[in-house]
Formats: sequence, structure tokens, C-alpha cells
Amino acid sequence: MMGSSDYWTRGVFTRSTLCILIVLQTAAAQQGFSSIQCCADTNFTDSTTNISWATDDNWYPDKLTCQGITQHIDNTTLSVKTRVFNSSFATKWCYNLTTRKDQDYLIRGTFRAGDLQKAPQSRIFDVLIDVTSIAQVNSSDDAVVEGIFRTTMDYMNFCLLKEQGDPYLSKLELRPLSSNYLKEKASTVLKLTHRIDVGNTGTAIRYPYDPYDKIWRPQPDDVHSTDATESSVLNISIIPTSTVLPPTQVLQTALTHPERLEFLHNDLDTGYYTYNLYIYFFEHNESVQAGDRVFNIYINNEKQQEVDILSAGSNQRTVDLNFKANGVLNLTLAKTNGSQLGPICNAYEILQVRPQLHGTTQEDVNIIMDVKDNLLVENQDNKVLRSWYGDPCLPLPWNGLFCTSIDGSSVITKLNLSYKNLQGSLPPSILKMRHLRELNMSNNRFTGVVPAFPASSILTSLDLSHNNLKGKVPESLASLQQLTTLSFGCNQHMSRELPGNLNRSKLDTDNGTCNRRRSSNTSKGIIIGTVTGGILFVVVAGVFCYCFYKKKVMTRGKFDRGNSMTKNAIYSIRSMDDISIRSINILNFSLENIETATQQYKTLIGEGGFGSVYRGTLTDGQEVAVKVRSATSTQGTREFNNELNLLSAIRHENLVPLLGYCYEKDQQILVYPFMSNGSLQDRLYGEAARRKTLDWPTRLSIALGAARGLTYLHTFSGRCVIHRDVKSSNILMDQSMSAKVADFGFSKYAPQEGDSAASLEVRGTAGYLDPEYYSTQHLTAKSDVFSFGVVLLEIISGREPLNVQRPRNEWSLVEWAKPYIRNSRIDEIVDPSIKGAYHAEAMWRVVEVALHCIETFSAYRPSMVDIVRELEDALIIENNASEYLKSMDSLGGSYRFSIERTIIIPPTPTPTETETSPILSQPAPPQPR
Ligand SMILES: *[C@@H]1O[C@H](CO)[C@@H](O)[C@H](O)[C@H]1NC(C)=O
Ligand SMILES: *[C@@H]1O[C@H](CO)[C@@H](O)[C@H](O)[C@H]1NC(C)=O
Ligand SMILES: *[C@@H]1O[C@H](CO)[C@@H](O)[C@H](O)[C@H]1NC(C)=O
Ligand SMILES: *[C@@H]1O[C@H](CO)[C@@H](O)[C@H](O)[C@H]1NC(C)=O
Ligand SMILES: *[C@@H]1O[C@H](CO)[C@@H](O)[C@H](O)[C@H]1NC(C)=O
Ligand SMILES: *[C@@H]1O[C@H](CO)[C@@H](O)[C@H](O)[C@H]1NC(C)=O
Repeated sequence: MMGSSDYWTRGVFTRSTLCILIVLQTAAAQQGFSSIQCCADTNFTDSTTNISWATDDNWYPDKLTCQGITQHIDNTTLSVKTRVFNSSFATKWCYNLTTRKDQDYLIRGTFRAGDLQKAPQSRIFDVLIDVTSIAQVNSSDDAVVEGIFRTTMDYMNFCLLKEQGDPYLSKLELRPLSSNYLKEKASTVLKLTHRIDVGNTGTAIRYPYDPYDKIWRPQPDDVHSTDATESSVLNISIIPTSTVLPPTQVLQTALTHPERLEFLHNDLDTGYYTYNLYIYFFEHNESVQAGDRVFNIYINNEKQQEVDILSAGSNQRTVDLNFKANGVLNLTLAKTNGSQLGPICNAYEILQVRPQLHGTTQEDVNIIMDVKDNLLVENQDNKVLRSWYGDPCLPLPWNGLFCTSIDGSSVITKLNLSYKNLQGSLPPSILKMRHLRELNMSNNRFTGVVPAFPASSILTSLDLSHNNLKGKVPESLASLQQLTTLSFGCNQHMSRELPGNLNRSKLDTDNGTCNRRRSSNTSKGIIIGTVTGGILFVVVAGVFCYCFYKKKVMTRGKFDRGNSMTKNAIYSIRSMDDISIRSINILNFSLENIETATQQYKTLIGEGGFGSVYRGTLTDGQEVAVKVRSATSTQGTREFNNELNLLSAIRHENLVPLLGYCYEKDQQILVYPFMSNGSLQDRLYGEAARRKTLDWPTRLSIALGAARGLTYLHTFSGRCVIHRDVKSSNILMDQSMSAKVADFGFSKYAPQEGDSAASLEVRGTAGYLDPEYYSTQHLTAKSDVFSFGVVLLEIISGREPLNVQRPRNEWSLVEWAKPYIRNSRIDEIVDPSIKGAYHAEAMWRVVEVALHCIETFSAYRPSMVDIVRELEDALIIENNASEYLKSMDSLGGSYRFSIERTIIIPPTPTPTETETSPILSQPAPPQPR
């Protein structure tokens, strides 16, 4: 390979040797390339590059959704095709490509929007390398997305995740790379921001000149200082070193300037991302000596290093720098005082660094793929199976799957394929899934016998009822130690006999009879949770709300009189496919309804984010909380409607749902169900806390519920909804103490390009405010994470986030708790009322998560998904410990709660943390509520 040390150990090569080498390389290099032209009719070879292109028939044979796109670039008309992915059942589409394990690759997706651009609403989707998102594509632009990653398997998945409208793809290119980008440990994925051939005014340079088919684009005019001089040399002779250089054609052109070269990129992603910058220098002037041309590199006004290209005995040099930036890069090369000549620059690459996420455990992936293949044999056109692409659990679980995280990787815990119109035999491999707790294959047309159960299975619930299975329940069922529910009735040809050696004492079974109500899905307090949010949930919620409200509207008399109209109502449901997110109904109440329900606003229960909250009762007896927007915070009709659309679509078991609204006489009123168990704040240190201490396991499960609710928001419909006011008083508990996050009054979609900054003035509550958001006004989901970290500290310590009654150094909970945590002295911050009543390791898990959440720099904070995983683990540890201790107790052992254990956490990586938290330095940040 060009420039690799094998070739270059012998010193200087002549020009002719160099040329020969280049030719030799290109002949052999196309190996390992995968080039896919979506919707192409046949495989073909591109005459300008000699690259062989394949159709995507292997993945998507259907040509119905192909769109021909004509583009005019300069004087040539380009005709390309784009595949539009439009199944109503899937949210993710993937191309599974064969790779070599542990090899670095470049992958490039080309998204030609063509006429799609003209649609009134743009299409938005995420581009994923396996489960790591590297970019968001918006149909208002043509886009090329390139990522660099290292494989962990002998295949990889390139996926598109729907956010708004149908995703599309024109071309996909996979190229093996030499490993100089990802260094030795590759826990990151790089996203190409720019790869620029400085001084080139012609066309882009790629394969065969670049053996890895990196595309070196000519420099856009607006990027550099205008008075720089272009320099080009025809013949170049490189004095080699071991670094990998851009192709000769790229080094042949450069820009020089007697004083300084300035490259300004205003188009970097907003948000504090880390970047790798590679700058390539090659001395064009053979008469220049070491010391003649010396310059400094500045990034965003910070000096990085001094460069003298010739100082190491070579005439070329690669400088590799890291920097953090938010939107803008100013790369300046400035001559030093003693230098004769000004700087030169030949090429540079800007790569954004993103952490590589880990997918589902390989074992589960292999099994579920086998299950899928097995099921597909008899169910070729099954829409659910056809929507199973890429990773089974991430970023959203496949339809029918539920996952949890164990030791940092996702596993499948539940498979519910009931009512999926499946036939054929039950795939025997299903039961091999080591973490599968619930399996529901009921209400299909499965035939054949029930496969044997492996003894390792931890299945707790099995439903095979309403199929056409035959034979007996296998003897091996008796080996399922944890099985508590079993249904196999309504299988005409199946014996009702259960294995003789089965322990029936704790088993709830239908005994194979067919008179039991359908779908008895008892999930008995199974704490291993499910990151819901997949289509399945939305569809189910949609159906539920539809039936529920339709019934209400039709049967309730007085209450809805004159106003019995539902918003976005759908009146005919042909199939499950037709129900989309938007179809969830909310009621439109009249002002009179509201006044009756609240008895003329009799009981004020809170002052919320945008006005007052009153308690009320609907005519059907349902208790509600009615939020009346104050006159000062009311918004226009359009905004209110937009907000209603958003709020009505957000449905999750851990979010307080919107029941209805009233918009009359300029009054904007929202109606929510009343949460009988009050707020977390009240339970931690309010009135309710004085009556009864909230125990640690309950605190933990409330935190987990709230985290799940926020995760749903952050991944809502693929697009991120940011709560903006996460705090313990916004975490409510229903009658079963299940946490529900409330008050999306401030919620906003994460800002995207083109959003005006003015609409996003800093909101939030003192004590919970993310210092980075406060200082930059740049809102991201990580601001919610910070606030959630404060909530975690509250459940640990039972203290309020800000209390100026305390000694000065204890005003801010965050600032007070941090040093104790860093010194592993958590006992001193734990709420005295739960002392000794927690498992130390569970507590530590929560403390560690909290500490990461409140990192000053958002980039170091975990995502809500990570937090959910950690809290799930903590709760499992805590519950197992309580079970264990209870059993010890019943054996007469002494009842100890806390198993003391010291865990030393390493200091967190905060290299440049500034101690100026706005929470402290400015005691009263704007307090909108
Ligand atoms: C493409 O391949 C053909 C035959 O192998 C060869 O004649 C031609 O020069 C090649 N073109 C390029 C651009 O490499
Ligand atoms: C096109 O190329 C792909 C991948 O190289 C191959 O699998 C497929 O069989 C080819 N199709 C035809 C019609 O030659
Ligand atoms: C396009 O065509 C016009 C006139 O035919 C010509 O002047 C111009 O140079 C062409 N541009 C390119 C990029 O070929
Ligand atoms: C870019 O950085 C250089 C060096 O720090 C500085 O002199 C120059 O003003 C900056 N340019 C812009 C547009 O900010
Ligand atoms: C991808 O394809 C390979 C082989 O072609 C197969 O073994 C693997 O299971 C597939 N994986 C996924 C996630 O589709
Ligand atoms: C199943 O049979 C057991 C005894 O064999 C009985 O106790 C149980 O009530 C039966 N369950 C149902 C649902 O009929």
C-alpha cells in the first residue's frame, strides 16, 4: 500500500518508481469494495472509475418504490435512481454487508432527493452504522454521508431509521481502509465532515487515484482567505516516512500565502463534538531548506503546534490534531516571526468523533436471526418479519421484541408474536435465548409439535394457546424452574396432559382447556423492563385510545354535548397498518365542561410551568388535573395546535398522557389524568415525606420509570423531544406508585438546522439547569440528562437541589455532593432516613450514574438509554438482595439490609472542567416558573 512502511523503509525513491507503484496498486485494489446502486436493473461497471456496481436486489427485490431522479450538474445530465422505503410496519431498514472482522472500513451513503425535495414536508431520517447513528439526512438537501468504523463481526449493517416521512437511498459504497484513522482501540466511529484537496479547482479526486476510494473534493471558494496563491507542481518526488499520504494528485496542488492561510468552516454540526483533524503538507519548492518555512497552526484562535515540514528530513508531513467545536472551525496557519516563507497547505480532513455503541449480544442476534429465517420459510410476506432488519434491540427493538441490558449489552427478554398471522412450525431455536422470560406465540396458526425446552431456560411465562399445534407438552417442560404461567389451550389436536413430574404448585395454567379468556398476559411484577417505544406500543396505544374514546364520545351524554368532536379522529380502521402515531385521539372539551369538572376552579393543586393546575372530576368519575394557561404565556392558535399534535402523540406508560384540551375565548387549557400519589418531590422532602419515608427500592423504581419516560421522549418518533424542565416535582406517581413524567409545557423538538434560536430561550428551574445549556443556550437532550442527574441526587440524599437556607457550601446539591462522591464517601450524602436500608452496590450504581449525568460538559454525560440500563441493573441488584435477605430472615437469620462493600470509582475524565457553575456563580438564574 502506498506509503506503508514496507514500501518506504529504503529511503528516497525516484520519480519513476513512485509512478510504477501507483499503477500497480490500483490494479489490485478494488478488492473488498462493495458498491451498491439502489434500484439498478442490472450490475454494471462505471467507465470512469472501473468500479463494479451491483443492484440491491439481494436486499430489496421490489422495484415499486424506486424513483428515477434526473439531475443537472454543470452541463451533464445525471440520471440516478433512489429507493424510497415506505412500509408502514417498519421504522428501520438495513443493508447487511459482508465484511472482514476487525478491519477498518469507510462506508458512504448517497441520498439523492430529486423530486422528494418538492414535498411540503421534508423527510428526515438517521443514518446508522450498526447501532451507532452518524448523521441525520433531511430531504431538503442532497446528502452524502460517510463514516469510518471498525468491524467486530464478519458483517455490518448500514441502516436508515425513520424519523419523519419515508427514508431513501441512492448508493452505498463500502471500502476497506488502512487503519491509520481509528488507532489501536476503536470504540469510536468517525463521521466525515470535510475532505479537502486544497488548491484544486477542478474535479474531485477518488479511485483509482485514491486506492481506498476516499473522495478528495476541490476546495469550496468561500472557505479560505481569498488572497492565497494556488501552487501546483507537475512532478512530485516524496521523501517518504511511514505515514499514509493522500494520493499524489492531491499533493500536487496546494495553497500558499506569504503570511497566513485561513480556512473557515461554518457548517460543522452544532453541539460540542470532538473532531480529528488531519492536515497534509508537502513542500512544493525543492529549494526550500529546513527552517525557511515555519508556521503555527491555530484552531479557533488557539495555538496548536509549530510546523516545519522539512525538519524531520522528509519533504512531507501529516499533522493530526484533536479539537472540540460547536458549529465553527477556524483553521489558521500563520508564519512565525523568524520564518522567511509563509505557510503552505495541500489537503485536510475533518472527522467528527462519535462513540461507537454496542448492539445486542451476538448469541441473541444469532438465535433471533435463525428464528426469523425459520419463520420466513412459511411466512414469506409477513409484514412483521419483513420489518426485522439490523440489530434486534437497538436503537428500537424489533416489532414483537422486548429487550433489556445486562452488563452493558442488550439481550432479548420477551418475545410476543401473538396475533401475527404466522404459520408453520415453532422454530426450536426460540427457546435457546438465554434471557428470554416471556414467550407469547398465541393466536397464530402454528402447526406441528412443541419443541423441547432446554434446561437452561429462565422462561417464566409461555403462551401457545389458539394455534393448531398437536402432540403433548414435552416432558422437558418440567425443567423450567421459573415457569409460573403456561397456556396451551385451544389447540384442537393437542393433548391436555402435562408432564407427570411437573411441579404444579406455583404454576398457573389453563390445563389445555379452551374456555379461558384470550390473551392472559400476566406479567407478574417482572422488573426486567422493556424499553418500549417501538411501533408495537404505538399501535396498541392507538387502538386502545381509539376504542376507548370512541365509546366515550358515543355514550356519554351531557359532558360532551355540543362538543363531541375528537381531534384527528379516525373512523375506519382497515388494518393495524393504518394506525400511525398521529391517530391517537384527544378530546376537545368546552369551557363549560371544564368549569363543571373543576367546580369553577375550586381546588388549586399547583402552579405549573405555564399557569395554574386545578383538580377536577369528569362526569364519568375520572379524576383529572386541569392546566389553565396564564394569559402571559398563551401562544397563537397555530403553535397551540402544533403543541397539541405533539402532546397527543406522546404516549408512554411513564409519561402523563394528555386526555384533552379546551381552546375557547382565548383560554388554552390542557386536561391530564390526576395522579393520586403526588410528586416525587413531595415524597422525598415535602409534606408526604414527613408522614412516611419513601424506601430505597421504591425510589429506585420511580427513577427507572422516569428514565424510561424520558428515553421515550428523547427517541420519540425517531426525533428527539426535549423535556426542558425535568425535576422531582414533575415526576408524579399513579395509584400503583408507577412513575409518570409530567409537564411537557416547555418540551421542544431538539433544534435542527434552520430553527430560530430565539424560540429556545433558556428555560428550566434553578437547581436543575444544565450549566452548558445555560452558558451556550444550545439545547440538547443532554440538558435533560443533567437535570435527571440532579433528580437522582435528590433520591439519594433526600435534599432539595437548591436551598439557600443551608450553609453557603451546601446551597447547591450538585456542588455539595460532587466532592463526597469523588472521594467515595457516599454514606455522608445518603438520606439519613434510608441509611442501612439499601444494598451498597445498587446505591453505588445510582451514584455513579448521577455523577456522570451532572458532568459539566454534556459530551461526557450518558444518554437516557444508558441511564435506563444502569438503573435496571441497580434495581435487579437491589431486589435480588432484598429477596435474599428476606429468605435469610425466614430461616431465622438476622435481618440485615445493607451488605457493605466499598467500590472505588475512578475519577471521572474531566480534563478541563471549569468550576464556574452558573448555579453557584449566579445564584438566581432566570426562573421562568
Ligand atoms: C478500466 O479497465 C479497462 C480494462 O480492464 C482498462 O482498459 C481501462 O484503462 C481502465 N480504466 C481506468 C480508468 O482505470
Ligand atoms: C450482481 O452482483 C452481486 C454482487 O456482486 C451478485 O450477488 C449478483 O448475483 C449479481 N447479479 C447478476 C445478475 O449478475
Ligand atoms: C457548459 O456549456 C457552456 C456552453 O455550452 C460552456 O461555455 C461551459 O464551459 C460548459 N461548462 C462546463 C463545466 O463544461
Ligand atoms: C481565525 O483565527 C485567526 C488566528 O487565531 C484569527 O486571527 C482570525 O481573526 C480568525 N478568523 C475569524 C474569521 O474568526
Ligand atoms: C448478515 O448476513 C450474514 C451473512 O450474510 C448473516 O450471518 C448475519 O446473520 C446477517 N446479520 C444480520 C443482522 O442481518
Ligand atoms: C388445572 O388443573 C389443576 C389441577 O390439576 C387445578 O388445580 C387448576 O385449577 C386447573 N386450572 C384451570 C384453569 O382449570
